[in-house]
Amino acid sequence: MRRYVVTGGCGFIGCNLVRLLLAEEPECRVRVYDALTYAGDLRNLADVVEDVRLEVVQGDVNDPQALAQTLYGADAVYHLAAESHNDRAVLDPWTTWHTNADGALRVLLAARDADVERVLYVSTDEVYGESVDERAFKESDPLNPRGPYPASKAAADRLAYALHVAYGLPVIIARPTNNYGPYQFPEKLIPVMVHRALHDQPLPLYGRGQQVRDFLHVEDCCRGLRLLMEKGKVGEAYNLPGENEHQNIEVARAVLEELGKPESLIRFVQDRPGHDTRYLVDGARIHALGWLATVPWEEGLRTTIRWYCDNRDWLDYMVQKGKDFADRWYADRQ
Ligand code: NAD
Ligand code: DAU
Repeated sequence: MRRYVVTGGCGFIGCNLVRLLLAEEPECRVRVYDALTYAGDLRNLADVVEDVRLEVVQGDVNDPQALAQTLYGADAVYHLAAESHNDRAVLDPWTTWHTNADGALRVLLAARDADVERVLYVSTDEVYGESVDERAFKESDPLNPRGPYPASKAAADRLAYALHVAYGLPVIIARPTNNYGPYQFPEKLIPVMVHRALHDQPLPLYGRGQQVRDFLHVEDCCRGLRLLMEKGKVGEAYNLPGENEHQNIEVARAVLEELGKPESLIRFVQDRPGHDTRYLVDGARIHALGWLATVPWEEGLRTTIRWYCDNRDWLDYMVQKGKDFADRWYADRQ
């Protein structure tokens, strides 16, 4: 019986990972550790919360006592808890740094002190900085984060490595590209576009909407995280590319088409400061372990849009939770 702790298990990727663990490992126990910030919500685990194998502990990654209690007896830790939004990090870099860098160090040290067998730290492809040519970033490339969010993630990414070197912490580092799928907080591109289209509101595209992102379905990502937990080499980092690049404007158009709404809803708004145009990452290292992104984009996007349509109450409730930030952010971008 494997006993997991999943930090950030009430967020987007975390709740999908918890479901996958419970489905794939009948004997496992999963303890979620989550501060339930605006982005984390028990509603994200509503269909599994009665499962006796699951326990949810509300706590902050910067609380060492609560972390020590939570990690006691754990075999493995998935560390996902973070402030995950670039735009919020621009407005409030301190909160992002405190959770993502200080908090990660606390989790890593707690994992060392609890003597866990494996720790998986979920970093991001953004740690490399933006791509300037067609050469895909390899894991051995230097990190060059350009915004407060990726800088905090890069700090934790290298802290994880440093604790492996200093203390032999059995940590593996995952660097996924842009996830999409059910339960993503509607401050991120796809759920923002779906919610606004459903309400016949303008779809705000930063700049001219020409930046490119590599979209990875969250189910593929979670399968990759599990594989790395089992087979990843400790101390190593692994890119998880979707190999599915699209310009933001193409994504907005696809959402409008699926929902039968006019393209005239698209609005170009003031760009995100320091907006990275693209992250191109090489997947050879994780491919060698037998992982590939498998969800086809057209199907993944269509089922994702349908999921938000079928879960309008969830979507409207989450939009309401993020409203103060969104009002402030988009008001400044008109
Ligand atoms: P999310 O914002 O949906 O969820 C983050 C979760 O962390 C929430 O449940 C929140 O309550 C929790 N949390 C925040 N601050 C906390 C704190 N101080 N203590 C405890 N819990 C706290 O994020 P996500 O999109 O699910 O991302 C999960 C992880 O994956 C993050 O580390 C993110 O940097 C990384 N990542 C995300 C993507 C993506 O496209 N979503 C891609 C690459 C990497
Ligand atoms: O690359 C991995 C990263 O992907 C993760 O580490 C982050 O946690 C995750 O949030 C995501 O970061 P992005 O900044 O790429 O995601 P976001 O959905 O915020 O934006 C995607 C693209 O869409 C980006 O180029 C900005 C643009 N955008 C976004 C929003 C919310 C718009 O044009 N308009 C919008 O309203």
